Amino acid sequence: MYKILISDKLAQEGVEIFRNDRRFQVDFKPEVSAGELLSIIGRYDALIIRSRTKVTAEIINKAKKLKVIGRAGVGVDNVDIPAATVRGVVVMNAPSGNTISACEQAFALMLSLARNIPQADKSLREGKWERNKFKGTELYNKTLGIVGLGRIGREVVKRALAFGMKVICYDPFINEEAAKGLGVFLGDLKYLLKNADFITIHTPLNEETKDMINASTLRLMKPNCRIINCARGGIVNEKDLAEALAKNKIAGAGLDVFEKEPPDKNSLLFSLPNVVVTPHLGASTKEAQVNVAIEIAHCVKDALLDKGLRNTINFPSLDPETYKVVAPYINLAEKMGLFVAQVAGGGISSVLVTYKGEINRYNISPITSAVVKGLLKPVLEGEVNFINAVSLIKDRGVAVESVKSSEESDYVSSLILEVKTSKQSFVLEGTLFANQHPRIVRINNTYLEINPEGNMLFIINKDRPGVIGKLGGILGRNKINIGDVSLGRHKKGREAFTILTIDSSLPEKVIKKISSDEDFILIKPIALG
Ligand code: NAD
Ligand code: MLT
Repeated sequence: MYKILISDKLAQEGVEIFRNDRRFQVDFKPEVSAGELLSIIGRYDALIIRSRTKVTAEIINKAKKLKVIGRAGVGVDNVDIPAATVRGVVVMNAPSGNTISACEQAFALMLSLARNIPQADKSLREGKWERNKFKGTELYNKTLGIVGLGRIGREVVKRALAFGMKVICYDPFINEEAAKGLGVFLGDLKYLLKNADFITIHTPLNEETKDMINASTLRLMKPNCRIINCARGGIVNEKDLAEALAKNKIAGAGLDVFEKEPPDKNSLLFSLPNVVVTPHLGASTKEAQVNVAIEIAHCVKDALLDKGLRNTINFPSLDPETYKVVAPYINLAEKMGLFVAQVAGGGISSVLVTYKGEINRYNISPITSAVVKGLLKPVLEGEVNFINAVSLIKDRGVAVESVKSSEESDYVSSLILEVKTSKQSFVLEGTLFANQHPRIVRINNTYLEINPEGNMLFIINKDRPGVIGKLGGILGRNKINIGDVSLGRHKKGREAFTILTIDSSLPEKVIKKISSDEDFILIKPIALG
């Protein structure tokens, strides 16, 4: 049974997805303190959060059973992603459920600023009738600058065009073709800042965007410009913004997010008449909360039940259909990695995985992660999984490369694993029979067919008559049953290798017995599970 902790307020519709299912036990603790979370997190397989819970490295390191962190919402800035990755915990979010609500919040702030709605509301409640004081401005025919043309930015475009606004966008990761398709002009940030009457921010907070709106970028804006931030606090420098507003360098600001949340109530921003603020309400609609709760609950459930990884932040996403195709390759890849790890001597210096055939139609990075997981498993048992494998091996200075080759393959698809160690280069080719059953079909230059399963023995022996019989005799006398034998050699009469599938693991004394015979140069037991 999987134990799930929900440590923030989550719509009931999301919680219900786990209830009445014996495979899950859900603890709903939306007010849990950081201290209590630290003391109980070790019991849980999954943690579901919104923005209140701060998932620090300290919490992740205490979470010995944790497999998944699910964020009901977009921003994962409250999760220490590198710490989760190193510990092999997959982090997923629910990126699309609150897009419309956040977009509408940006328009709510834009219209409030344009028409002085909160100020007029306050004045009327105070018994005043100030029709001249609150003369506003239309959105029609004005230029809107959108910074960040992702999910929310694109929804903003549609509504801005419907209002009859001209739209300029800035997003260094979007090309002109895509912008043209949306019917907008893509300019650089400077051009946008200089020409917009309204500016709305829809980027993540990162090193590039932190303080993007500061004293010098504010100086470029027109005096009638109004700026809206519904994305993340910190993208707009609050001190510089307050100064620009106080000196009427720009006309107004609408803020839903703040550098520190909740913000300091004595902030200069709150004393200015041309500022409209809301307490991070972008996603606070009934619809968005139900959407993100359902979306994240399904993602977490599928991840725990091994039915696909969607909306992942630190691992490639795999929808259930793709997962069905890719899962047998993941199984093959892990076995190939395990095989090489137990056979090739010396510390690994580089790993190259070449993919041929139909598998190239899919995202291969989870398969490469599986190879690396197999390579590391005998060394780091218990610590390594698909999420952390590549980062763990890179931390050890090992170069990992994967290549989609257009060369023809003898099989529908195949994976060629080349591992360089301090002592040698080892090549293994694997494929699937009937799209399901893993087979190793080449070791270095020798073609063969091995079912990589259970206990195996890899032996390098002298290529002369009677050697295989001698090996069978030793195993037989020690009651070790042989399931399968594959033989290979490069040149007649020199060295050959023998791969046996055996029905039980090999006791140390039997390994010693075989090794003591001069006909056997190398003997390596392999456990493939
Ligand atoms: P998204 O990932 O779909 O889009 C972000 C866009 O920003 C991308 O197109 C990306 O290319 C662009 N971008 C990245 N760096 C940039 C840069 N330096 N300059 C310009 N563009 C850049 O994200 P989204 O779902 O549209 O969300 C946008 C933001 O809104 C996020 O920060 C999210 O956390 C926030 N958000 C806030 C609320 C709220 O309650 N206020 C609700 C939902 C989302
Ligand atoms: C998000 O990133 O999804 C938003 O900030 C909404 C939220 O967490 O409430």
